[in-house]
Amino acid sequence: MDSLYLYSVVWLTLAAVVAGLIVMSSNLDVFIAVSGSNESLKRQVSHLNWLRKILWFGILLLITISVVTAIRMLNERNRASEAIRAAVWPVYNPETVWKAPNVSLAETDDNAVLIAYGRDLIARTQDYFGTSGLVRPDAINGLNCQSCHLDAGSRPFGNNYFAVASTYPQLRPRSGSIETIPKRVNDCFQRSLNGQPIDSTSREMKAIIAYMRWLGTGVPKDAKPRGTGLPEVPFLDRPASPDLGREVYVSKCSSCHGADGQGLPMPPEGTRFYPPLWGERSYNQGAGLFRLSRLAGYVKANMPFGVTYDNPQLTNEEAWDVAAYINSQPRPGHPFLGTDWPDIAKKPYDHPFGPYRDSFPEVQHKYGPFKPIVAFYKKK
Ligand code: HEC
Ligand code: HEC
Repeated sequence: MDSLYLYSVVWLTLAAVVAGLIVMSSNLDVFIAVSGSNESLKRQVSHLNWLRKILWFGILLLITISVVTAIRMLNERNRASEAIRAAVWPVYNPETVWKAPNVSLAETDDNAVLIAYGRDLIARTQDYFGTSGLVRPDAINGLNCQSCHLDAGSRPFGNNYFAVASTYPQLRPRSGSIETIPKRVNDCFQRSLNGQPIDSTSREMKAIIAYMRWLGTGVPKDAKPRGTGLPEVPFLDRPASPDLGREVYVSKCSSCHGADGQGLPMPPEGTRFYPPLWGERSYNQGAGLFRLSRLAGYVKANMPFGVTYDNPQLTNEEAWDVAAYINSQPRPGHPFLGTDWPDIAKKPYDHPFGPYRDSFPEVQHKYGPFKPIVAFYKKK
């Protein structure tokens, strides 16, 4: 039977019995008043009194039982919906590539509104901070977060955010300090988006954090699931070549990013676009992609747009060379050259700005070959 119907019947019956009892009690009082010394009337009254007590007891018992059942039913319903969520949520396994939870699952989260806003800020950053941005106009270059963090940071090896919730705050040698999620997000605002940091207490920052936390649900603390971030492309034995890279660029990239690398509008909607790869509207020299290994990894697993990490189109040589071509083009300078890498021994092998702890020239740190540099630090 429908539980709502059942409950109405139970409560109506209870109400009727209580009303009957009240009427009966007042009649009993009349009988007690007139019973005087009539023994048989007195006995009847005492029987009825007992009956009244038993009925009250029964009513109390019924009320207790129905309250307990209601609580149990509610708990069961919660457990059932949690089981449904758990059944469709990806299961963490260090051996297999982590898959992001389905976006529609975010709608069942207590934080649904904030998570959805965070995701939108990542996917359509231009709408909020671009030329005519809703939150702060003209605050960033021509990119969205999603230009580099594909599928709003949820694609395996597409520079995703799988390990953000599980590994921050963390000590980062680039700044030499403990970085929280807001600090790391603002790193990308100031470098990859060549713009202004946003207030760490703003609704926008809270939304981005809520989205990243949600995306990392199910990833154990400190774990970095397979498929996090970007893949490593095996080193070449020669320096990466901007000249060879230009040929790759012209044949495989310029159709979307433009012969001049400045990107193109994406028909039919004018607001989506193929992003610029160099020049004033692109990432600056302090950005992660200005490190050749990061750009080569991004390109190998994700470009030309549409390929995936397990079905790439470029060879390792092509990935390194086209990365060398893109990063040999002009772009905004490094805003934090003086303060980054306070411990120079911690600079990554492909950080293209000296001074170094080793004696390899800047140009080798920029284009390679990297094997000798890595070997040098391994020996130490
Ligand atoms: C030009 C490309 C680019 C853009 C645009 C960009 N990022 Fe990044 N982001 C990177 C790269 C590259 C890394 C570092 C990857 C690595 O070191 O493996 C990174 C790393 C991060 C990380 C740390 C991930 C981790 O697991 O440690 C966060 C968080 C992040 N970005 C947030 C953002 C946000 C938010 C935006 C938009 C406001 C944004 N990024 C825009 C390229 C970009
Ligand atoms: C079919 C169109 C297309 C082709 C071809 C293509 N890209 Fe892209 N590329 C995109 C799109 C679209 C994005 C942004 C992704 C998004 O917004 O979801 C992008 C983003 C990028 C980015 C990061 C954002 C930025 O502007 O720095 C780089 C780097 C990049 N592409 C390099 C390349 C390289 C190198 C090639 C050639 C090997 C290439 N792309 C070929 C469409 C394309």
